[in-house]
Amino acid sequence: MEILSNFADPGGGGEMLGRYVHYLAGVTWIGMLYYFNFVQTPAFAEVSDATRSEAMRTITWRALWWFRFGALLTFLSGIWILGVQKLLGSEFDNFWKTPQGVSIAIGALFAITMFLNVWLVIWPAQQVIIGSARKVAEGGEADPEAAARAKPAARASRANTLMSIPMLFFMGFTSHYSGAYFSDSTGPYVITLLLFLAILAVIELSALGKIGGYDSPLCKRVFDRHKDTIVAGFVVWAVLLIVGFELIIGGS
Ligand code: HEM
Repeated sequence: MEILSNFADPGGGGEMLGRYVHYLAGVTWIGMLYYFNFVQTPAFAEVSDATRSEAMRTITWRALWWFRFGALLTFLSGIWILGVQKLLGSEFDNFWKTPQGVSIAIGALFAITMFLNVWLVIWPAQQVIIGSARKVAEGGEADPEAAARAKPAARASRANTLMSIPMLFFMGFTSHYSGAYFSDSTGPYVITLLLFLAILAVIELSALGKIGGYDSPLCKRVFDRHKDTIVAGFVVWAVLLIVGFELIIGGS
């Protein structure tokens, strides 16, 4: 079978099947992320405490299963693609100094940060919040920790929504357009990566409350309303494309 030949080589069937799994898992993960941010959060602000509690125990709980395992499979299939492309070894030394290398570094580092937010911030907080709703529904006391866990989870979820917008562009850009940019020297690639790392650090550290707390002016401006988060996502996308690729690396 052709699809099984050269399975683990760059451009072989293993890479294609890995991409297929990556698309399905990525759609599942980011679809759930958008459901939480654009549908569930605004809806939960309108309903009664009893309705919200019941919805958390029945709908949110199930959605979180697809959300976190979608994230895990997206991450694993992404690492598989990098592996069959032989980019996890010494080949990476030269690859990151290419437009494709910078592009996938941007896409993958955004996505890996998002993956860590899911498993290390959002999911542990939701276990406490939904666990508390369960206890109350069974006639027990609410967990006093639950209220304090809501803000960190909400901030990480909004940061993931923001990052998903430039992340998805650079995932596809890597193989489908980044080759239109080129520089003879390494400097522009390094500067574009540093620009990206600075932006990533500001987004993530803000979401973790490490820059002026969870209610800093930047956090409130960008994360409070999902429409502002979407606008910020496109601003970050435009800065990386226009400043990073158009101006710093330049057309080929
Ligand atoms: C979690 C960490 C992730 C890693 C390590 C990762 C890694 C990769 C790699 C190595 C590629 C191949 C780039 C190329 O050479 O064409 C890729 C492509 C892609 N990824 Fe990801 N990815 C991750 C998350 C995501 C997420 C969350 C999505 C969202 C849906 C996504 C969507 C895509 C798409 C659409 C492509 C383009 C495939 C193509 O052009 O055929 N990835 N990713």
